[in-house]
Amino acid sequence: MSSKLKKIGVLTSGGDAPGMNAAVRSVVRSSVYNNIDCYGIYKGYEGLISDDLVKLNARGVNNIVNKGGTILKSARCLEFRTKEGRHKAKATLDKYGIDSLVVIGGNGSLNGALIFEEEHGIKTIGIPGTIDNDLVGTRCTLGYDTALNTAVNAIDKIRDTASSHNRLFFIEVMGKGSGHIALNAGIGAGAEEVLIPEQDMGLDRLLVSLKKSEKSGKSSSIIVVSEGEKIGENVFNFSSYIEKNLPHYEIRVSILGHIQRGGSPTCFDRVLASRMGVHAVDCLLKNKSKLMVGIVDDKMITVPIEKAIRGGQELDKDLIRVCDIISI
Ligand code: F6P
Repeated sequence: MSSKLKKIGVLTSGGDAPGMNAAVRSVVRSSVYNNIDCYGIYKGYEGLISDDLVKLNARGVNNIVNKGGTILKSARCLEFRTKEGRHKAKATLDKYGIDSLVVIGGNGSLNGALIFEEEHGIKTIGIPGTIDNDLVGTRCTLGYDTALNTAVNAIDKIRDTASSHNRLFFIEVMGKGSGHIALNAGIGAGAEEVLIPEQDMGLDRLLVSLKKSEKSGKSSSIIVVSEGEKIGENVFNFSSYIEKNLPHYEIRVSILGHIQRGGSPTCFDRVLASRMGVHAVDCLLKNKSKLMVGIVDDKMITVPIEKAIRGGQELDKDLIRVCDIISI
């Protein structure tokens, strides 16, 4: 064990994701196990700036492994994007003698952690907590599996009513520029089409495909659409185009929205969170930092945060092919 490590702070930042609580629990218990004090910081970086933190012991994180959301609360903190904000954050850490952080969050949160370490030398390990699955170097992010299952359950229900009424449904799922949720939930729920940002299908091809589906005897259809810049933007554009060009279709739009971020984490996410939390503390103990923990081939790995936040994770081309083949 490195003698340098004094106290660990843990925070959840950005959009919450199922499994964040299990990760907090794991970081706290792993710290306690290694005789290191651990502080929970409230509302992400906001709590660092406003000195809102609490020392946590093993019992302080009882009964949260199964809970959605985050007991530490989360925020997208604009002040932390400024040098002044980060100075205030450092002053808080100094006050408590905290010299390392575990940041559980997505792209923006990990980027903030990297800048903070570069400016102030606070050692940081990131845990990829986001439903979007858009971080490079890990097979999946924490919360993604739960969000996928939530989306598939919801689409299954919509399928029942779509087929009862012979309707065409456009269903928007989250993903912030990344089509992982749309593609996988689309395949899992048997969607007729999946529209993702990584592949511009073109509205004319969508028309052709719908006509083909109709000819082949389909009386209802589900089209899963990945969200655009704004919630609802893409999905209403697509649906009104089809409404204009295929007026005999009875169309409905459903936006799954934030239900995808809530709910009790799946067993997969709970185990992943537990492993990631332990691995994050192990890294700090070994004096490592500026790394994000991840999972590849069912093994815990680390990847430089700088690499993890650049560019998003590529979609598996084979999945796109599978989707095309099985949706005929
Ligand atoms: O990054 C997670 C995410 O849920 C995205 O999928 C979505 O675009 C965004 O957060 C929504 O953010 P907010 O909760 O701030 O509206």
